[in-house]
Amino acid sequence: MTQSFITVVGSANVDLTTFNDVFPRPGQTIFGKSFDLGFGGKGANQAVAARLCGANVAMVAKVGNDLFGPATIKNFESQGIDVSCVGIAEGVSSGVAPIFVDPSGENRIIVVKGANDLLAPEDVDAAAHLLQKANAIVLQFEIPLRTVYHAVQFAKAKGIRCIVNPAPAQPVDFVQLRGVDYFIPNESEAETITGMPVHTAGDAKECARYLLEQGLRCVVITRGERGCLLANEEGAELVPPFQVDSVDTTGAGDAFIGSFAVFLGEGHPEKEALRQASLYAALSTMKVGTQKSFWSRAEFEKEWQKRRARL
Ligand code: RIB
Repeated sequence: MTQSFITVVGSANVDLTTFNDVFPRPGQTIFGKSFDLGFGGKGANQAVAARLCGANVAMVAKVGNDLFGPATIKNFESQGIDVSCVGIAEGVSSGVAPIFVDPSGENRIIVVKGANDLLAPEDVDAAAHLLQKANAIVLQFEIPLRTVYHAVQFAKAKGIRCIVNPAPAQPVDFVQLRGVDYFIPNESEAETITGMPVHTAGDAKECARYLLEQGLRCVVITRGERGCLLANEEGAELVPPFQVDSVDTTGAGDAFIGSFAVFLGEGHPEKEALRQASLYAALSTMKVGTQKSFWSRAEFEKEWQKRRARL
């Protein structure tokens, strides 16, 4: 098995998560049940998931020169993630995300991008040595889209696998994304990006077909507790989910993407890598928090061996 090297070009936030049964109406103040402070951001989460799954990981990001920025860098370092291309921007806050989690574990997130919004195409060029040695470059949409597009072009020019998670969803220029190897939205992101309804498996297939027509090589639509849909030029296939007792789904999509990049990089066949990533993501919902809910590779492998025997 080859060890994956994953370079994530993306966001780092601090997550401020409130757990409650109800949420305030305008003008109302209410008491919350509990609170959790932790490291998050879609890019950072995917990097940490990849690292916990055993890959060498480099992060290309920007944080603010505030309380959270240096702590975020320290967090990456403590996990063995290369931070040589994580910059500190002056005069801007670090990215933060107030998150609200209801009793079913479902979350609502407001992302304040802060320094993430200053990650520029020049930062991608400055990290060329880290991108070049990756067997996958992983991108999300919490940094400027022009930076995402620049990294996609870099990956294409160098023939490096490129995984794009279009979250949070926003209108995209598909010409810039042509040739992306894996485009992985969830249902609501797929809806926002295409304007097509994505409620049923049939909807997801239609939507994936449309996305493929835009020049993406492979589309995976994640469907939460209903598994995911894999679509490429050979057709579309539903990948079933794993059942777990969820308490907090925050970061599950990131766990999916970070781990998928690693499993693919190790040479697992695509469908098996998706099954593994589905389990890795599902397991992350059993604990509170984002990065702190992700499992180590050793813990994951034990569970995978148990569950795969029952497939
Ligand atoms: O995907 C979950 C993440 O979205 C959180 O960690 C939050 O920071 C936002 O980026």
